[in-house]
Amino acid sequence: MTLDFASIRYGGDYNPEHWPVEKIDEDMELMRRAGVNLVSVGIFGWATAEPTQGAFDFSFYRMVLDRLHANGIGVCMATMTASPPPWLTHRHPEMLPQRVDGVTLSPGARQQYCPSSPVFRQAVGSFVTALAAELGDHPAIRLWHIHNEYGCHIKGCWCDVSAEAFRSWLHHRYGSIEELNRAWTTTFWSQGYSEFAEILPPRVAPTFPNNAQQLDFARFTSDELQDLMRVEVDILRRDTPTVPLTTNFAAVMPPLDLWKWTKDLDVVSFDNYPDPSDPESFRIAAMDYDIVRSFLPEQPWLLMEQAPSAVNWRVRNAPKPAGKMRASSWQAVAHGSDSVLFFQWRASPGGAEKFHSAMVGHTGPDSRVFREITALGNELAAHPEPTGLRTHSDTALLLDWDSWWAGELDSHPTADLKLRDQFLDWHSAISAAAVQTDAVHPAGDLSPYRLIIAPSLYLITQESADNLAGWVNDGGVLVLNYFSGVADERDRIHPGGAPGPLRELVGATVQEWWPLQQGEQLRVSLDGLSGTNSNANNNGADGTRTVGADVFTEDLVLHGAEVVGSYADGGLAGAPAVLRNKVGKGTVYYVSARLDRAGTTAVLQAAGADAGVQPLLPALPDGVEAVRRGDGDAALLFVINHTDESVTVPLPSAMTDLLADNASATDSVQLAGYGVAMLR
Ligand code: GAL
Repeated sequence: MTLDFASIRYGGDYNPEHWPVEKIDEDMELMRRAGVNLVSVGIFGWATAEPTQGAFDFSFYRMVLDRLHANGIGVCMATMTASPPPWLTHRHPEMLPQRVDGVTLSPGARQQYCPSSPVFRQAVGSFVTALAAELGDHPAIRLWHIHNEYGCHIKGCWCDVSAEAFRSWLHHRYGSIEELNRAWTTTFWSQGYSEFAEILPPRVAPTFPNNAQQLDFARFTSDELQDLMRVEVDILRRDTPTVPLTTNFAAVMPPLDLWKWTKDLDVVSFDNYPDPSDPESFRIAAMDYDIVRSFLPEQPWLLMEQAPSAVNWRVRNAPKPAGKMRASSWQAVAHGSDSVLFFQWRASPGGAEKFHSAMVGHTGPDSRVFREITALGNELAAHPEPTGLRTHSDTALLLDWDSWWAGELDSHPTADLKLRDQFLDWHSAISAAAVQTDAVHPAGDLSPYRLIIAPSLYLITQESADNLAGWVNDGGVLVLNYFSGVADERDRIHPGGAPGPLRELVGATVQEWWPLQQGEQLRVSLDGLSGTNSNANNNGADGTRTVGADVFTEDLVLHGAEVVGSYADGGLAGAPAVLRNKVGKGTVYYVSARLDRAGTTAVLQAAGADAGVQPLLPALPDGVEAVRRGDGDAALLFVINHTDESVTVPLPSAMTDLLADNASATDSVQLAGYGVAMLR
């Protein structure tokens, strides 16, 4: 099922239950003024629509939908299940979630449920069935907004109900207790189980719990939350088969394996709250948007939430200066979103989020934020050009949740190795080089790509290793980071040492990991790296090109790879640090240390040159982003200035900025602070 929007959808969460009903008249007038055409209704409405068990009353929401429809505003209708009402937890305290340390979380906030709780699932099912029957055919509804941010607060549950569900999940996965014992290496520390009944979730224990048990619990938690969503998916597919389904993801984060989750949905939607006080936060947004777009690449995604200005939940909550909200909104559109939606339409008068900014703040429409909101809504309405365009890239980052979970477990060579940091290292270098990127799973279809970058691929299956090897042999260029190919899907070390089934591709083996101490830095010389005009510091005292490294280094034994970078100091001084290996028609780069930006960029440029990857623009000023939306003749090139200084960006050929007042072709684009150009 596809969305077929005529222009970028604009609006946000609309929670009229916070206000006297008379406010709705003003809301309708202001929404029309601001160009609002899609709102999410009822996200936390369960207790309003079912104030006591079975007493369903959707009349308030029907009235709200009628009003929106009469004003030409579409609705992303929430299923309202993210905050179970007090009557439910009061009657069934056994549905409350339990933390890893045994503390049971109380009601009084939101997401107070155990994902496996049969009581909760039953209540969700009966509520969503009633909702679909009452409102499912309302003409205002464009899509269903299932729940809200699964896994945002409840990242797992360790209660007895979850323990029982975990045992069934394990039984299904392994079939017999003998097979589970083998998979979990339970001969270690006398952990052999004689029956499934003995197994518990990995709760707080005297020391490190079994790693394979922790990995399986992470898989179970993602699956269990997804099954909870499927309670709703199944009902909505059955009762409202023509309405598309989405759920808003809070982040690209560990609890949910989004490759699996998004298979249940028609549209991916994503909430994003970059910190306005961090000048580099636009890079995190760029990375997340590229990943999110890749889950269902044949369908635009939706930016379901962002803040009009400040949030309320950081320690210090900076507002967005004038122009920044517009720039970040166009950034999402540039990366493939068909919507710019906010949390929320009107600021709450009370409750935990009363200090969160809104499209209409407490002072009403006569405010800077509302003027910017109105200007952007009208600008988006006047520029439908990007709507529906899909983008394909020839570069991708390799992302696998199994590897992410396993790679960050305890009792490893270092606790400092974080996959999102590595993703950001590489994505930032890629984005600063104006190269367009997707994300792909290691067992996925790699054939569209020329260059693939794999931040630590700690866990790799033989199937994925074969997939990568086939693609490299056919001409792909792979960049593989340190701490890769270490373990298999049971978190057992691959025989013969890392990078395990990727050893032939890399042409080397890791004989020892040398993690660095906190703050420790050393230098790597990249003298053997060709195909680069990198920013690496080539003014070292001895004239060599050196870059910095921290966090992780490795002691390598070569069997075929060429050394293109060596450790210049530290315990591994003189030893190989960065390798290149020709395999079939392709090439593999192996990076054994966490390189700084200059080093990462130098490797990227060499690998990109080997792969024939072309940047979108020859040069980008710092803090400026170039993004292509659409392919071929339909493509639009966005240039976004995320700084408050004006910049001039040279273009490879004459282009026209469709957002400019008097659009005419130019060969460079001038952008004021937070300026945006949409070029054709
Ligand atoms: C999101 C959530 C919204 C609201 C918002 C505040 O994570 O989905 O309901 O709480 O944060 O920034």
